[in-house]
Amino acid sequence: MDKLLIRGGRSLQGEVLVSGAKNAALPELCAALLTAEPVTLLNVPQLQDVSTMLKLIRNMGVAAERADDGTVHINASALSTPEAPYELVKTMRASVLALGPLLARFGEATVSLPGGCAIGSRPVDQHIKGLAAMGAEIVVEHGYMIAKLPAGWKRLKGARITTDMVTVTGTENFLMAAALAEGETVLENAAQEPEISDLAEMLIAMGAKIEGHGTSRIRIQGVDKLHGCTHRVVADRIEAGTFLCAVAATGGNVLLRHGRADHLDAVIEKLREAGATVQAMDGGVRVQSAGGATLKAQGFRTTEYPGFPTDMQAQFMALNCIAQGTATVTETIFENRFMHVNELVRLGAKIQTDGKVAVIEGTPRLSGATVMATDLRASASLVIAGLVADGETVVDRIYHLDRGYDCMEAKLRGIGADIERLKA
Ligand code: EPZ
Repeated sequence: MDKLLIRGGRSLQGEVLVSGAKNAALPELCAALLTAEPVTLLNVPQLQDVSTMLKLIRNMGVAAERADDGTVHINASALSTPEAPYELVKTMRASVLALGPLLARFGEATVSLPGGCAIGSRPVDQHIKGLAAMGAEIVVEHGYMIAKLPAGWKRLKGARITTDMVTVTGTENFLMAAALAEGETVLENAAQEPEISDLAEMLIAMGAKIEGHGTSRIRIQGVDKLHGCTHRVVADRIEAGTFLCAVAATGGNVLLRHGRADHLDAVIEKLREAGATVQAMDGGVRVQSAGGATLKAQGFRTTEYPGFPTDMQAQFMALNCIAQGTATVTETIFENRFMHVNELVRLGAKIQTDGKVAVIEGTPRLSGATVMATDLRASASLVIAGLVADGETVVDRIYHLDRGYDCMEAKLRGIGADIERLKA
């Protein structure tokens, strides 16, 4: 397995390009299944999860070609097998996003249950509840969700859907299913993440009738057919937020080209309260800091967008490890998203956890060590800590990092970090 070797202590200067958002590209690749016409996605990030999703849709008989410049051409006219098999779904739970489009366009879908993942059980019961409200008959057998329309039905029927909790991919599945359903669908407690709005914009470009995306109430009027489109994937706010935390921790002055400050209000607010300077520029976000040890640690609770994102919890915790004072972090979304804590402690961090709460006591120095990545955002947290730790840090199992970050070590080296990939 590849590792990253980091020699800490460098400040970061210069400019870095923010890639397209993983959590927008994944649903948008599935949205292409809703039409038999060609779809072009621009600014698709080069990520392991994107490769997995391309494999998944090609496995269905979809033509999908990815160019080096991030352009992906998809043609689902010859889709022959509306299935998402376990061997692919078990590596990426976002495969569940095939369920809504397949049901909407073909009236049937066989999608493996994702199984759990490192950060929690990650059930999909709400996806099933919402699609069933639209008429789908979904049974779970041998680890698969087998979905079809009732006898005689040609399409799903619009419905009012209120889920037990806000669900990002659940909202995305319902959006895609409702786009081709008969009549109106209203999502009463929809997720409001920017990736939802980006997916809605793509669906509208395909001819869908959607309003209210970006708020908690989305209305969709189903149409008979959707046509092809060309859509540019929105910039990745979590990648941008990760780099903001890295520069705040190491010290320096970096422009994140294409970064959207308006998608990172909660994180930027906390960075400013810590003492970093963050400015929205046209075409990006600039962050300046004298280094983590000069900043004040910030407590926060993760909540749904527009609150502090759970996907930024581990990265900001790494910053709190070397900032001044003590901070309390509460993870309200996932039940097991503190696996980076024990690895940060190996680097000298002072952290106590109790269930969903972690208390971090800032210490002026961390010391390099070998640590192990356990999940995607935990990996990013360990890289940030390694960038500030004295001496060498080796981050093992960085296949977790490769799932969601596009050439992170190359981007960090480009702004002055001493970091290299040790090939297995
Ligand atoms: C999306 O996951 C993101 N993934 C996650 O990003 C992100 O952490 C999460 O939203 C929360 O923002 C993608 O968009 C591909 P949820 P998702 O459904 O949709 C519970 C990353 O690092 N729930 O919003 O799977 C669930 O267990 C990844 O990029 C049910 O109980 O998350 C969780 O506690 C990690 N039943 C809460 O709701 C359901 O049917 C929110 O989950 C669905 C969800």
